Amino acid sequence: MKALVLAGGSGTRLRPITHTSAKQLVPLANRPILYYCLEAIAAAGIREVGIVVGDTAPMIHAAVGDGGEFGLEVTYIPQDAPRGLAHCVLIAADFLGSDPFVMYLGDNLLVDGLTPIVEEFAAYEPDALILLKEVDDPRQFGVAVVEDGRVVGLVEKPARPPSNLALVGVYVFGAKIHEAVRAIEPSERGELEITDAVEWLLRSGCDVRSKVIDGDWIDTGKRQDILEANRIVLDHLERRVEGTADPETRIVGRVVVEPGAKLIRSEVRGPTIIGADTCLVDSFVGPYSSIGENCVLEDSEIDHSIILAGSTVVGIRRIADSLVGRETSIRPSTEMPRAYRLMVGDHCEITLP
Ligand code: DAU
Repeated sequence: MKALVLAGGSGTRLRPITHTSAKQLVPLANRPILYYCLEAIAAAGIREVGIVVGDTAPMIHAAVGDGGEFGLEVTYIPQDAPRGLAHCVLIAADFLGSDPFVMYLGDNLLVDGLTPIVEEFAAYEPDALILLKEVDDPRQFGVAVVEDGRVVGLVEKPARPPSNLALVGVYVFGAKIHEAVRAIEPSERGELEITDAVEWLLRSGCDVRSKVIDGDWIDTGKRQDILEANRIVLDHLERRVEGTADPETRIVGRVVVEPGAKLIRSEVRGPTIIGADTCLVDSFVGPYSSIGENCVLEDSEIDHSIILAGSTVVGIRRIADSLVGRETSIRPSTEMPRAYRLMVGDHCEITLP
């Protein structure tokens, strides 16, 4: 079995972070989302991985290299524009050949891993195995049409969902999918939809199995989803303190303090990670926070947030539920008049008390 990882696309819902980074490289517990996907693939015993890349190809390449670090052999498959998930299968045809493959959307986090799914596929050898998850609001996903307990169709992002079963961004396909992606036409939004390709399989009488999963699954499309995915990953953290802490600092619970980090008169409550060479002075970092490397936090309180590398937060009473990009500075104004003074990039979101 091979794997096809989709790491192209545009990432518009995560702007401004995605103005300067691929959305698959946004970190969870200070490691790119994409790494969790590649580790799951390796853990399922798959070696050959094709990664579909778009405009952000150089960044993905720099982060993953030849895949050796993960025990994988990576082949990069360039996509000229985000023309849809089925288009990714189309352009990966040479790499995939007639082997069955796992298709994994590189911005998805599937906590229970791939092994049970790969085993189920091997046991039944269907033409497709799709994963479904019950969600409160399925309108932003592909949604299953279910009749008498069987999936009879799929609709992409329906205004009126036919069920609450969302299509998870991890699929296993046999060779028949290649015929399907060649047969379908672009959708109204101009993309070759994988939902249409699976519909084609269903209509052609192919064996499409579905599995409703219980474990955590997050499509990290938006800020709240990233924070939730960060929370889930941090929940599996094991305590490791390699940086230094002065006697007035308290480190409580499952906290990782990377080498070179310095904690002075501060409190860190886990699960939380403090990146390498980051400095905390007179600050509190609360549960479910990931502070990147080379950050400075002074006289501030932060919880349930992600602060990316190289950022500075000074004199801020409380930051919560936030995603702060790289090399950002947040500090109170000392000039008169008292006012918010902002240098904010495009597509930012600022919520003030
Ligand atoms: O996350 C699950 C959902 O993923 C499914 O429920 C939907 O049926 C499926 O269409 C997909 O919807 P999204 O709107 O979340 O897909 P998105 O455009 O975010 O792309 C998913 C990943 O695939 C992302 O890592 C970018 C990559 N991609 C996307 C497209 C359209 C590519 O590499 N090339 C592409 O052409």
